[in-house]
Amino acid sequence: MDFPRHCFVTGGSRGLGASLVRILAGRGHRTAYCARWPQDDRSDIPAFAGDLADPAFRARLITGVIDRLSTLDTLVLNAAVLDDPLLAPVSRLTSKSLTELLAVNLVAPLDLVRQFLPVLRRQENPLVLAISSDAARIPYPGWTAYAASKAGLEIAMEILAQEEPSIRVHVVDPGDMDTALHRQALPHDTNRLRRPDEAAAALLPLIEDPVRFSGQTRLYLAVNSVGRLALVSSKEGAS
Ligand SMILES: NC(=O)c1ccc[n+]([C@@H]2O[C@H](COP(=O)([O-])OP(=O)(O)OC[C@H]3O[C@@H](n4cnc5c(N)ncnc54)[C@H](OP(=O)(O)O)[C@@H]3O)[C@@H](O)[C@H]2O)c1
Repeated sequence: MDFPRHCFVTGGSRGLGASLVRILAGRGHRTAYCARWPQDDRSDIPAFAGDLADPAFRARLITGVIDRLSTLDTLVLNAAVLDDPLLAPVSRLTSKSLTELLAVNLVAPLDLVRQFLPVLRRQENPLVLAISSDAARIPYPGWTAYAASKAGLEIAMEILAQEEPSIRVHVVDPGDMDTALHRQALPHDTNRLRRPDEAAAALLPLIEDPVRFSGQTRLYLAVNSVGRLALVSSKEGAS
């Protein structure tokens, strides 16, 4: 196990990101996060306030994170939004909402990877962990913009894994969780939803032991109903 890891989590103010930040920091990993409205009750954890859709904020994050953590070996691409109007069919999508959603869910993670690459390449076991969704692969009507952003993120991570063989790249579908995003999308969902703490705990082995799945650079994982990582499918890495 690598200890401590130096972790940056996008979207760490609530939901899965907040759980992950809490768990990582609690285990002694150097952890920072960003959100538009960070929680102010965790003064020991560096938090960067800003909008990931803003390129200037992303540029500030690169220097700010390295300043506060001294280095970075774990980049968790977690922040995401749904579209507005909510879950609109293609006919009702607006260019503004499309642009805004893709900026947060797709452009920002790729731009952060790009800018953190020089630092990540220098680490012993660097990891990029991208949080995706089954919407990337299942055509749910009304989810076009969100699904396209997640499908785009997944293929970009596959390419990253090939281009940067020294960097472990994991793509994880955490499954349905009881978070603001899920409640916004499906307020009347009566299924038993996983607590984000459970999903975050299940992701921990990937972060603490990134070389565990040796021989594979690309993994598609889902957190199964008992809260453990389940390998849904995998492909051999190009390297
Ligand atoms: N919940 C589910 O059932 C589910 C299922 C499959 C996949 N996922 C994926 O899991 C990940 C986490 O989702 P969640 O359910 O935990 O969502 P959530 O509760 O809505 O949290 C989203 C996080 O992203 C941050 N964020 C949103 N827009 C941002 C922006 N423009 N700039 C900076 N930060 C921003 C939010 O903070 P601020 O609002 O303070 O900015 C918040 O911390 C996402 O990638 C989501 O697609 C979720």
